[in-house]
Formats: sequence, structure tokens, C-alpha cells
Amino acid sequence: MSDLESLETDLIAKIDGAADAGALEDVRVAALGKKGVVSERMKTLGKMSPEERKEMGPALNGLKTRIGEAIDAKKLALEEAALDARLATEKVDVTLPVRPERKGRIHPVSQVTEEIVAIFSAMGFDVAEGPDIEDDFYNFTALNFPEDHPAREMHDTFFFEPKEDGSRRLLRTHTSPVQIRTMMQQKPPIRIIIPGRVYRCDSDQTHTPVFHQVEGLVIDRESHMGHLKGTLEAFAKTYFEVDSVKTRFRPHFFPFTEPSAEMDIGYERVGNEIRIGQGDDWMEILGCGMVHPNVLKNCGLDPDEYQGFAWGMGVDRLAMLKYGIPDLRDFFAADARWLEHYGFDPLDQPNLAVGLSR
Ligand code: DAH
Repeated sequence: MSDLESLETDLIAKIDGAADAGALEDVRVAALGKKGVVSERMKTLGKMSPEERKEMGPALNGLKTRIGEAIDAKKLALEEAALDARLATEKVDVTLPVRPERKGRIHPVSQVTEEIVAIFSAMGFDVAEGPDIEDDFYNFTALNFPEDHPAREMHDTFFFEPKEDGSRRLLRTHTSPVQIRTMMQQKPPIRIIIPGRVYRCDSDQTHTPVFHQVEGLVIDRESHMGHLKGTLEAFAKTYFEVDSVKTRFRPHFFPFTEPSAEMDIGYERVGNEIRIGQGDDWMEILGCGMVHPNVLKNCGLDPDEYQGFAWGMGVDRLAMLKYGIPDLRDFFAADARWLEHYGFDPLDQPNLAVGLSR
């Protein structure tokens, strides 16, 4: 065996024997590194006679290439082996039953949002979303709140520090700004609902600084107040899972709708229980109205061509009513015992075919 051949055999054996990436790197440095055995041999080429060099040059280059390739192949094999070993230790048996004491619960706000989405999806609505941090234009101006109008004070707004130009960003006080964002982006017909978090500087038994709304918006050429009432009455019946619900639309004021109304539903109190649907008492569940022509104009839509209706309802309140939850503040207390009691099974997906709540 020639000198070069035995060197190659020796190096290949070392490469094969390397137990991990570190050992392999040591072999590489010892062979191909600046002072490695192969590199040292390459340096001797310069001192050879042209004949010798003609023979040794290709031989040494071949050796260098083969050693490099052997190292690369070994490196890959080591990486694959390491991955296999890791996968083996991290193996999870997905067929194991969930331990009952470890099972999480779905928060009523999430569950009720899913219920509402299921109801309106079946009516042909899409879901739209927008940012929690808004600017004045979307949250107020485009929605026809006049500058310095007291209506802006109605919403106890959380403002950010003013920017250099004096403008202030804010935490959206309602989901209505997403109406504007949608109308500016997409042509009618529009049929959307907008679930999301909203913020107001307010806190007592029935108010928290953060709460949840679902907004609705329909824009086309002929939707009218009758469609609005039909849609919301159908919603109330399906949501409360009763055969009929008494409703009442009371005139109200919102800057972004004209006419505006609040929708009440009938209920009665039987002992400690509230029965929704019938009875002589009324409770307000949402605000609604026909989209104001100014709002359409602000979004670049011609009010002589397009019209439509909108509404906004409080998800937390709807959850309290349906599931008999007494205090709103508990929704945000992150108390595992409360969630254990009022929360939902993760496998209970709200679904109109099988029943919203089971
Ligand atoms: N944005 C209103 C609020 O938070 C609720 C509302 C009322 C939304 C009427 C609407 C509407 O879209 O038409 O108090």
C-alpha cells in the first residue's frame, strides 16, 4: 500500500469512528485544517520537480476531495441519528386518554362568540376583524361623531400619549371602526359580523375596562329596517334556543345610524331564574339602525346607490344572560375554579345542526 493510500485508509477509519459532531470536527481539522496532514502534504507540492508534481498533484487533490466528501456524509449521518434519537425520546402517545383533571375549559366569552358566529354564518355573514389600537378617524370621525361633540365623551376612551402632530391613538371603544375599514376596502354587497375586544375607562359590577362586542353590517342596494328586525329577531330566537322571543325596538341615538334603535327582549323572573323570551319585563340587548348617509360617504360609497343596516351587541352580557353568570368582573379574574364551573368542554363546538349548547 502506498503512503497516500494508507493515509487515506487511516483518515476514513477515523471519520467512520467519530461518535459525534465534535469528534468529527476534530478529525476534519487534523486532516484538512491549516496544519492538517493533508494540507501539509499539499504544501510540499511546491518543492517537487515538475514530473513529481504532475503525479502527486492529482493524487493529493483526489485525496482531499474524498476526505471532504466522507466528512460531509458522516456529518449528515450523525445529524440524522441525532434527530432520530431526539424524536424517540420526545415520542407522545396521542391515543392516550386525556386525564380528566388536566382537561382545560373554554371561556364563556369564547364559547358565546363561537355560538354567535355559527348563527350568522348560517345566514350568510362573513367574519371580519380589525386592530384593537385605532386612531380617531376610524373610531369616531368616519363614524360621523362631530369634532368636540359630547358623544365622544360618552365613550370613556383610553387615549395614548399624543404624537408630535397632536393626534392621539386610542384603544377602540367599540367594534364599529371595523365597519369603516371594511367599507373602504370592499365593494357592496357586504354582509359581515365583527367579533372583538373593546375598551372603556369604566369599572363596576356591570362594567369592565375591557369587554367584547359583536358588530354586524349589511350594505347593499335595498336592505331596510324590516330586514334588520328580521335578522335580529331570528338571531335572538336561535341564540337563546327558544321557539319565540318578544322583541321591542326603542328609538335611540347613535351618530353612525339614522334612524337608530335599541332592541329589547322580553323576559320574566321566576324565583332566582331569568326566563328569556316571554314575560312583561324588557331588557336591552343591542344597539342598531340604518347606516347614516354620512358614514357611507366617508367610506366613498354613494348613499343614493347604497344603503344598509348595522348593530352592535355585548358578548359578555349575552353570555351572562344565557348561562346565568351573575358578575361581569369574574369573567376577567382568571380564577380556575370559576372557569371550571362556567367554562365549556373543548369538544363542545357550537353548531346549529346538533344544537348550540348541549
Ligand atoms: N357602537 C355602539 C356602542 O358601542 C353599538 C352600536 C349601535 C353599533 C348601533 C352599531 C349600531 O353598529 O348600528 O355603543
